[in-house]
Amino acid sequence: MGSHAISTHPFSDQRPGTSGLRKKVRVFQQPHYLENFVQSLFDTQPGLRGETLVLGGDGRFYNREAIAIILRMAAANGIARALVGRGGLLSTPAASCLIRKFRAQGGIILSASHNPGGPEEDFGIKFNVTNGGPAPEAVTEALYARTREIERYLIADGAPPDLDQLGTSRIEAMSVEVIDPVKDYADLMESLFDFPAIHQMFNSGLFDMRFDAMHAITGPYALEILEHRLGARPGTVINGQPKPDFGGGHPDPNLAHAPELVRMTLGPSGLNFAAASDGDGDRNMILGRNIFVTPSDSLAILAANAHLTPGYRNGIAGIARSMPTSGAADRVAEQLGIEVYETPTGWKFFGNLLDAKRITLCGEESFGTGSDHVREKDGLWAVLFWLNLLAAKKQSVEQIVQDHWRRYGRNFYTRHDYEGIDGAAAAGLIEHLRAQLPTLPGTLLGDRRVTYADDFSYTDPVDGSQSNRQGIRVGFEDGSRIIFRLSGTGTQGATLRVYLERFEPDPNQHALETHAALADLVRVARELGEIPERTGRAAPDVIT
Ligand code: G1P
Ligand code: ZN
Repeated sequence: MGSHAISTHPFSDQRPGTSGLRKKVRVFQQPHYLENFVQSLFDTQPGLRGETLVLGGDGRFYNREAIAIILRMAAANGIARALVGRGGLLSTPAASCLIRKFRAQGGIILSASHNPGGPEEDFGIKFNVTNGGPAPEAVTEALYARTREIERYLIADGAPPDLDQLGTSRIEAMSVEVIDPVKDYADLMESLFDFPAIHQMFNSGLFDMRFDAMHAITGPYALEILEHRLGARPGTVINGQPKPDFGGGHPDPNLAHAPELVRMTLGPSGLNFAAASDGDGDRNMILGRNIFVTPSDSLAILAANAHLTPGYRNGIAGIARSMPTSGAADRVAEQLGIEVYETPTGWKFFGNLLDAKRITLCGEESFGTGSDHVREKDGLWAVLFWLNLLAAKKQSVEQIVQDHWRRYGRNFYTRHDYEGIDGAAAAGLIEHLRAQLPTLPGTLLGDRRVTYADDFSYTDPVDGSQSNRQGIRVGFEDGSRIIFRLSGTGTQGATLRVYLERFEPDPNQHALETHAALADLVRVARELGEIPERTGRAAPDVIT
């Protein structure tokens, strides 16, 4: 027994992206690959020694093997106590909740979020800091630098404990506590929302919903909260059993990847409410009968109605949204007389604003919504927030959304993704756009005049840190916007994201189909970016 130093060589491709390090499982299975990354984390986070570390993942293929390795390495690196979710499971927001609740020094979450799982698919690892949120860039860059020079890693002998048994054991001097992955998170949800009112709504016999866990992490959480604590009828949670390959599906809650759920909401007897979450439980999709609520609208609606929930009864301090997210929330902030912040894509940019209490709610167009209750976006939290609003307002989802548009105007919004395109072609497309930025303002594109064109940069108002080149923005006189960005989370080739937005104040126009409302902007974007020529694609792969 004891710990050993194992010599190793650096890998050159361990730079974390928008949300941790994501690679094919096969890449992670190479000898020393996971170990190098984890040791680089411990080497650059000396504050973890003698402290508590939270550990868990979304249950995808390789989750258990990775946890066994990380536990032995944590023991060898002087971690005092590891809190691990039973079965090696923890949703991303639950991990954030545990880090905060148990004052851990950090957490390691194993997930590639909404990317497919299985031996030929994706795996990922991310580090969260002591506030419960994703590590800021300074931390991930230091970690990355370390991976470039690493020569050895430390690992303890011996088998790690049985992850399926609750209880405490030891690896060397480190105590390992296998804990219920759901309870603390469910308690937190119960403290924020009006559970008795939601319970009553479920019991009324007039309200039917489904929650699609997509065979990913939220199954056990949704079962406990919706069916056990809130009394929703059995069968409310569908695809509730987490599977290592997510049942072969793509655990991304959107119109493209959850078509059965969408179908259940259609027609005069469609479900009153339906929702889904992703691989690691931080995303959400909200549907009502015959209506899909865009994540950008959802953020705005939650903000406008937050006072109806116990957790946000006293109002919200401010709102933040990622730059490509629609401006719907800005209009609510204006009416509430609170600040709104526009941040680069990625949840890590909300952390400082939340810690400084400048904002209470935040969200991204990519199906992420959250608040200061944890430091991650939170899928089930958004679902419960909506349930609380439905119970309090006694209106349908459609009525709530339409009322909102009438009051604030409607931001038509869509995102087009071109996936797995050639990396050089994608870089060329962005470069080509960048080169046009100085000459675009004042010109006519289609029948709209460009008022600004830039590559978004952000200065964090709390710590002054600067992030440049965060996406090409082209803004028009009528408030419309087109944004071009390359994904930072993909594992194959490049993904071009094109975000399109148009504001419509006139209620008579609100019933337009999104597709029709944005058709001319889509055309402009294709031409401006020379998308078909440069990507070889006639149409996007995914439209959300
Ligand atoms: C995507 C989303 C982004 C989100 C991230 C992690 O990143 O666009 O909003 O924070 O996943 O869930 P991207 O692939 O665009 O870099
Ligand atoms: Zn996710």
